[in-house]
Parts: sequence; C-alpha cells; structure tokens
Amino acid sequence: MATATGKAIFLKDYPAGMPEPSLFEERDIETPSPGAGEMLCRTVWMSVDPYMRGRMRPDIKSYIPAFSLDAPLEGGAVSQVVESNIDGFSPGDYVVDFTGGWKEYYLSKGERTQKVDPNLAPLSSYLGVLGMPGMTAWAGVTQIMKPKEGETMFVSGAAGAVGSVVCQLGKAKGARVIGSAGSKAKCEWLENEAGIDVALNYKDYKNAAELTKALAEAAPNGVDCYFENVGGMHLEAALNCIGFGGRIALCGMISQYNNQKPEPGPPNLVNLIGRGVMARGFIVSEYIDKAMEFAAEVAPLLMQGKIKFQESVYEGLNKAPEAFIGLFKGENFGKAVIRVGPDNL
Ligand SMILES: NC(=O)c1ccc[n+]([C@@H]2O[C@H](COP(=O)([O-])OP(=O)(O)OC[C@H]3O[C@@H](n4cnc5c(N)ncnc54)[C@H](OP(=O)(O)O)[C@@H]3O)[C@@H](O)[C@H]2O)c1
Repeated sequence: MATATGKAIFLKDYPAGMPEPSLFEERDIETPSPGAGEMLCRTVWMSVDPYMRGRMRPDIKSYIPAFSLDAPLEGGAVSQVVESNIDGFSPGDYVVDFTGGWKEYYLSKGERTQKVDPNLAPLSSYLGVLGMPGMTAWAGVTQIMKPKEGETMFVSGAAGAVGSVVCQLGKAKGARVIGSAGSKAKCEWLENEAGIDVALNYKDYKNAAELTKALAEAAPNGVDCYFENVGGMHLEAALNCIGFGGRIALCGMISQYNNQKPEPGPPNLVNLIGRGVMARGFIVSEYIDKAMEFAAEVAPLLMQGKIKFQESVYEGLNKAPEAFIGLFKGENFGKAVIRVGPDNL
C-alpha cells in the first residue's frame, strides 16, 4: 500500500563549484495514481552517479537535459511495483528504471524499465556491478579497449563503481592491470581483493610528472589500454606512458566536473599522433543493444566470485545529497547506494 504522500528531493538552485548540502531540499509530494499504461512504483534503492553533476549545469548542452528546479530530481533506482496498469508488470515485481531515484514513489510508463530478479543478486547490485556502471565498464573494455592477453591496462578511478569492474574484466582477459585510487584502503582492496597487479594512491603524487614516474615503473613495457575516469594529471600521465597502437576509452573526467572555469587539456596530446593511439569517448547508452551480452559475460563472473564489488550504503532518502556530494570527495568506496525503503512491504 502506498502512503498518501511521499518524500522527494528537489534542487533549490544549480551549484557553482562543489555542490553544498543546502542546495537540496526534501519535500512531501502527493503520491500519484497510475492511469492507463502507467504503474506506481515504490523506490527501494537509489543510485547517485557523477553524471548527475552535469545535469546541474543548464548552461551546457549535453546528451541528457538539465534537472528542473520545479520537479523532484531523478536517477537510477531499483523499485517495487505497487499498482500496475501495464501488461507484464505486476504488484510486487522489482524493476530498475532511470527516473525513480530521489523520491519514495513515482509513476512509470514501463519504458526503459527492466524487471530484475531479487534471488539472483542483491537488489542494490542492479545499480552497480549488474547495472549502468557495470555495463559502462564492460562497454569500455570489450568494445573500445579490447585488451589482449599479456597487455598492460591502466585504470583511473579504479576503486569506483565503474573502475573496479574495468579492473577485474581486464584481469579476466589476461591483462596486467594497474589502477589508481585515492586512499590506502582502496589500493589495498584493489590489490588484495580485486586482484590487480599494482594500485597507485594518486594522492601520493603531487603532479603529472610524479604520477608518470610511478606509472612508468609499474608498466615498464608501456600502457596498451587506458580507461579514463578522472582526467587532469591522470590523462597526462597515461599519455606519457601509452605505447604504440594504444587504445583509450574516454569514459569520464570526474576531476573536472566541479571546475568553474575549464582546465586546459594536457600538454602532451601530441603523443596520440606519433604513437598511433585511438582515443574514443562514449556514453553507455550507445551500447544499450548489447545489454544481454554484458549480462551474459558479467553475471557469471560475479556468481563465480571472479568479480568482487564494494558498496557504500546510505540509510534513508535524506542521505542522498550527502552520498552524491561524497562522489566528488572520494568519500564512497565502490558504488554509492541509498536504501530508500524496505525490500518488501
Ligand atoms: N560514459 C559513461 O556512459 C559513464 C557512465 C558511468 C560513469 N561514467 C564516468 O565514470 C567515472 C566513474 O564513475 P563511477 O560511477 O564509477 O563513480 P565512482 O568511481 O563510484 O565515484 C567517484 C570516485 O571518483 C574519485 N574522484 C572524485 N574526485 C576525484 C578527483 N578530483 N581526482 C581523482 N579521483 C576523483 C573518487 O575516488 P578516489 O577516492 O579514488 O578519489 C570517487 O569515489 C566518472 O567520471 C563518471 O562520470 C561515465
């Protein structure tokens, strides 16, 4: 049973620089009734993701529209169907869709909505390793970098939701994997649990020259593939170490998302030319038709324990702003997820 009103989080104004908690406001909104072709869903888990920062910049044209200040925020969620007027969806079903986050109840038309099995994997993992971040990792590895056995892969943001899956897919394909992350604990997890070859704590290096030196030592034969999550000195170091015929999957540049003025690009882009490097930007939705291939490869690796994952779990919708801001401060370990309500009512 749905309650007459539910909580939802609104953005009061667009942030300049690092978002502040005071920009977010929790309000009560009326629980809507589903009309024909609609269903009422109750959010169980919601995701916070770095791309949401881009939706807080109405001045920049993007692949996805900016958030409105007049409606609750939205984002990926695992939800339970409460009432359904859509064939194929029944009360009690669990679904993932891309609008259910930041609120307790919402209407879905069942478009881009995927049913998920709570017995196959923990519900929250459909927002991480088995969801959009896992699919992003899989696409960058299998469709762009295509690492061969014995090649060297470098991954920035390696302990995060996307990076940790990239690292482990790289290992599964026989690559030597070097990852960078922002704490000793994250680096230890990467080497001891995720099984990568070398983890570099980038906070130990003051600039691109120092990071380049450490990366060159870890990759004496050069880097064959680079998975870019961070930008800035990471990209510069990767371009210094990339080998002939290298491949770069440009997935994200989180170090730049809160910049108020664009930062100049790395001074060594010219290496792309002389070394015949292919650098390809991508958005995961481009590969949506390959979602079954992703699930067929990653779900068994997860079941066999060959892919491990970490989650930072926040309890309660009101914790979502803190979880979101934490993405840009390195406060989350693995996938940041928020438990909005109980698995079952
Ligand atoms: N192209 C696509 O379709 C697509 C899809 C999903 C995600 N992405 C991108 O992939 C990247 C990772 O996303 P995610 O979901 O996996 O996030 P995440 O890694 O789970 O969370 C963000 C992490 O980034 C690191 N970070 C934050 N600010 C940083 C900085 N200034 N310098 C270095 N590291 C910093 C922090 O870890 P540390 O403690 O290691 O600093 C933080 O935990 C992001 O750039 C995101 O935009 C792209």
